[in-house]
Formats: sequence, C-alpha cells, structure tokens
Amino acid sequence: MKSLRGVALLVTAVLLCLSLTACSREPVDEAGAASGEPATLVVGFSQIGAESAWRTAESNSIRQEAERRGVILKFSDAQQKQENQIKALRSFIAQGVDAIILAPVVETGWEPVLREAKGAAIPVILVDRGVDVSDDSLYVTLIASDFVEEGRMAARWLAGVTDGRANIVELQGTPGSAPAIDRKRGFEEVLAEHPGMVIVKSQSGDFTRAGGKQVMEAFLKAEAGNIDAVYAHNDDMAIGAIQAMQAAGVVPGDDILVVSIDAVRDAFVAMIDGTLNATVECSPLLGPLAFQAVEATLGGEELPKNVVVPDRLFDQSVAAEAIKSRQY
Ligand code: AHR
Repeated sequence: MKSLRGVALLVTAVLLCLSLTACSREPVDEAGAASGEPATLVVGFSQIGAESAWRTAESNSIRQEAERRGVILKFSDAQQKQENQIKALRSFIAQGVDAIILAPVVETGWEPVLREAKGAAIPVILVDRGVDVSDDSLYVTLIASDFVEEGRMAARWLAGVTDGRANIVELQGTPGSAPAIDRKRGFEEVLAEHPGMVIVKSQSGDFTRAGGKQVMEAFLKAEAGNIDAVYAHNDDMAIGAIQAMQAAGVVPGDDILVVSIDAVRDAFVAMIDGTLNATVECSPLLGPLAFQAVEATLGGEELPKNVVVPDRLFDQSVAAEAIKSRQY
C-alpha cells in the first residue's frame, strides 16, 4: 500500500499539475499510470501523552477509527512536551503524510510549524484542545468540547448543592493548556454571581492522579478544616485528591464535596462509592469526527472552524445506571 504523497513524490511535477486523477487521490504507480484503486491515506497523529484515563481513551478512539477506515496512522506520543509535538509534526511533514491530527498540549507557540504544514499543503485537524494563532487558516477545524461551559456546569452544580456558600480548593490542569485556562474561566464566571463561593487555594496538578494527590495533601495541611469543596479540572486529579483526603482521615464526598470533569469510568465508580459527588462529561471519543474531517477536507469540502462536542453533568443519583452504558 502506498501513501498518496509517497507516491506523488515519484512522479514529475508536470504530471502532478496536470493529472486530475492524482489530485483526486487515486494512486499512481512508478511509471505514472493510475492503478484505479483508491489510495491508502497516511495520517500523522501527534498526541500529548498518556497523563489521564481520558487521554488514553482518546488515543484508542483515534487508533480504532484509523483501523476501521483502513488509514495508515503514524502515532507519536509527546510525553507532555510541546517540543516533541513540534518535532513530530516536522517529521510528518518530511514524510509527506496526507493529513495531520494534532492534540496540542498548550495553546501558544504553534504558528511556525503550522505554517510549515500549510506550506507543504498538509491539512491539520485539531482535536480536543485549541491553539492561539493569528491566522486561523493554519488549521482546518477544531473538534473539541466547550471547556468554558464545562467549568460553568461544575460551578452551577456546586452553587446548587451549597446554596452558594463554599470555600473551594481548585486543582488546575496543565499550565497554558486550553482546558486549564477555559475551565478556570468558566468556573470563575459563575462564582462571580455567588459572593459566598470563594477559591481559597488553586494550583496545578498537571491533569495527573499523582499531581492531584500531592497538591491536595498540601492544601489539607495549609487549610485544615477550612475546605468545603474541591473543584478538579479532571477526574484523575479528583481521584488523587480523594486518596489524599482518605489518608488524612477526611471523608471525601461528605466532609469535602468533590466535583470534576471528564466522566471517565473511574469517576462513576467513585460516585457509586460516594467519594466523588459529580463529574462533567468531556468526550474523548473523537476518532470518528477527526477522520470524517480528514476525508472531507481532502475531498475539497469546506469545514466549520469549530465543531463543538456536547457535554453533560452526572451526579451520584444517576451514576449506577449511567455506568452501564459508559464507553470509556
Ligand atoms: O484536553 C482534555 C483534558 O486533557 C482532559 O480533561 C484531561 O483528562 C486530559 O488530560
């Protein structure tokens, strides 16, 4: 199986310009004759890492959908480092992939490499997190949840169960990442309407269970007896915080309320146990939408700049029923 771009490199520039079949992604053999079979797409996927159950579910969704469609997927795990993602993108460009799917770790610093992809006529589809660029033609579309609204949903739920009075500690996601920035913003927007709800401490736990546990241990020492609720930017950090509370003799879900975001399976287990009170869904099952976008843009279709994946909130009252149909 040959990738379109790999094959295209072997034909002359004149043939490339003139051949409509090559433009329509029909494979061309080394002598330049069209084989008549549809080309196998080659897509590079630059993933952030595997910091959370959510992230692993997203990687699985992309891999499964590539396999289902017979797409060759070049998967690169950046181990949380933007520099590794930029290297991966440059490598995809050098290999001449047909398209790139990017889950960017942070919002800024993408412009040069996205220009290189555009210069090579390789479309870039953003999944899950957005980027901050001066020219939005540098990517085709962003397929993601509305992180600001997720923060609002968590805050509205907490306002409802506390009558608008709570000392809150916040576990933030990776600094500079779209979900950490937007989930904080949405939560604080709602808090502005409730003067009795105050964030007494806020720190990053980097979206990891270990980070959530470590930061919560410090919060419990610094604010002993003064914490009513934890707002965690993801479930993994909430679960780490729950472990810290249990080790300190505090009853999570009761002495201290816990609300988080993602709605991974372990969050439902924790809600059934009574240690987590609520979670806002953020779907990682982005593979089908991502590859639809890849195929549509390669087929010449115009796509919306932003595809918003809808979310909802789950609390303990629905957890036992909802866990039966969870896919991640
Ligand atoms: O960008 C989505 C966030 O990244 C998820 O909430 C979190 O679990 C992940 O690491």
